[in-house]
Amino acid sequence: MTVPIDLPAEPGAEATARAHPNIALVKYWGKADTAQNLPATGSLSMTLDIFPTTTTVRLDGALPADRVVLNAAERTGVVADRVVRLLDEVRALAGSSIRAHVTSINTVPSAAGLASSASGFAALATAAASAYGLDLDARALSRLARRGSGSAARSIVPRFAVWHAGTDAQSFAEEVAAPDLAMVVATVDAREKSVSSRDAMKRTVLTSPFYPAWVDSTAQSLEAALAACRDGDAERLGRITETNALRMHAVIQSCDPPIRYLSPTSVALFDRAAELRADGIAAYATADAGPNVVLLCAADAAETVRDRVADLAEAVVARPGPGAMLLPASERVAG
Ligand code: DP6
Repeated sequence: MTVPIDLPAEPGAEATARAHPNIALVKYWGKADTAQNLPATGSLSMTLDIFPTTTTVRLDGALPADRVVLNAAERTGVVADRVVRLLDEVRALAGSSIRAHVTSINTVPSAAGLASSASGFAALATAAASAYGLDLDARALSRLARRGSGSAARSIVPRFAVWHAGTDAQSFAEEVAAPDLAMVVATVDAREKSVSSRDAMKRTVLTSPFYPAWVDSTAQSLEAALAACRDGDAERLGRITETNALRMHAVIQSCDPPIRYLSPTSVALFDRAAELRADGIAAYATADAGPNVVLLCAADAAETVRDRVADLAEAVVARPGPGAMLLPASERVAG
């Protein structure tokens, strides 16, 4: 019997990582390749400094299968399968077949369109790569996180991130300079959404007659948004953000059968952004695949914007946050 002499990871190896959600200013909605999770267009986002996910990956040579515990509940089915698929990618890179315990605490209201999969898969990719002994740079980590969930590619990156479309090797996120901005997260409804963004995205590509126009216009919006970032033009960036969000919701609503994520309160929040602008406060609304609305504004206007929407929804200020990071063993998530 031959004994492998360079085992890439010791059974019992463990790592803990933390990542934050991100909110896209120019959205990712539609895949060019489902197997590799490549987006049809690039996108631009702000990583938040609130609602982190912390994840521990512990290798265990005695485990017959991976164990996934999220927010203290053992997971099976679709959620666990997605985690296992990412671990399989990591094992393939590391040349390992050892199974792992994954324990994760997610402080974002899960699956309510607040990018819980972004922080979740960014933290998982970072912890798993380290636990299996891989030494990946930020680009490689971003590409790995992308395999778990597209938007997770951007949560590897601090502050503002552009995620490039293109081939597997090209499709990672990296930091871009941006004006001094903040976001106000207005939680309209924290319950699980009825159609996942993954399924809704698929339905959009397959059934919306407007999908090709969405792809063309988003590619243009990304170029315009990056130019606004370069020019430090916060208001132009805000206008692009709100227009792109409403176009995404329009293309989603044009599916067959249709999907509508925005509720009357979400629409009221978009109207409130317009009222704020009429009052001279540059606030712009966006929303992901759910009813919650996020308002983009100048950093020094964030508290005012929060107070001006508080009658409609619970609102908190988020600032540009850190990229995914490894944590000391003392921060391990028990389970
Ligand atoms: C509306 O990243 O959750 O938040 O790659 O299938 O996991 P998968 O999709 P996901 O989609 C996010 C969609 C969005 C827009 C965005 O974050 O850009």
